[in-house]
Amino acid sequence: MLDINNIGVSFGGVRALNEVSFTTPDKGITALIGPNGAGKTTLFNAITGFVTPTDGTVSFSGENITGKVPEDVFMYGISRTFQNLNIIPELNLRQNMYLGFIGKEKPSPLKSIAGLNRSYWKDAEKRIDECMDFVNVTEYAEMTPDSIPYGVLKNFELARAILSNPKMLLLDEPAAGLNLNEKENLAAMVKKIVGQGVNILMVEHDMQFISSLADYVICLNFGEVIGKGTYKEVRENKEVLRAYLGDDEV
Ligand SMILES: Nc1ncnc2c1ncn2[C@@H]1O[C@H](COP(=O)(O)OP(=O)(O)O)[C@@H](O)[C@H]1O
Ligand SMILES: [Mg+2]
Repeated sequence: MLDINNIGVSFGGVRALNEVSFTTPDKGITALIGPNGAGKTTLFNAITGFVTPTDGTVSFSGENITGKVPEDVFMYGISRTFQNLNIIPELNLRQNMYLGFIGKEKPSPLKSIAGLNRSYWKDAEKRIDECMDFVNVTEYAEMTPDSIPYGVLKNFELARAILSNPKMLLLDEPAAGLNLNEKENLAAMVKKIVGQGVNILMVEHDMQFISSLADYVICLNFGEVIGKGTYKEVRENKEVLRAYLGDDEV
């Protein structure tokens, strides 16, 4: 589905990604693992148009999307969350949700003046309610983020990311900062989203968390792919073990 071919990204003298290639399966969950600074977020940014790769191509469902701006990547059906919460503190959850509502077709200002966009916004409201319900955050809809548990906010971000009915969802460390209970809850949500036919690429370095979720695993270290395969294959990969545990442990 997502075809990463020989991608390279440099920041000045820092080579953040070098000759990264992999293809995600058409269905299910792919986990992108690797130590801090390995280049995981940079790869997400290169896929979604937040940074421009210096080399290589990104294709999605056979279409070349390399170097496209984030809005265009989004229109292809790729949605994402960010490593840090991306929620406006002054707005309640429902209002934050509206900000995430970028329809495939935007209402025209002229139609708005004529009152012809009512059905558009009615549909938007319906979809917003549906998505908040889907991840069980409806009871927090009128509250601002400062009074909402962190785990709920993480689920909220999932709800906002699926508003547009994406084909593919990129999650950057969705489980970071969550307790065990919240992680289990999140895993259930992720499975539910996959059950709706959404393909997921997830950055996560909690091996425990991905063990029950990932159909395919890719491990990055110092900007390069050092292992890919099933969870079991990657977990037994010597280079991956070395990256995680250090030379002495392997
Ligand atoms: N905007 C940037 N400018 C300069 N260096 C960056 C930038 N973004 C990331 N880097 C560097 O690229 C490398 C990979 O970072 P990152 O992709 O955030 O890693 P990860 O998400 O795997 O922890 C790091 O060395 C980081 O310092
Ligand atoms: Mg990161």
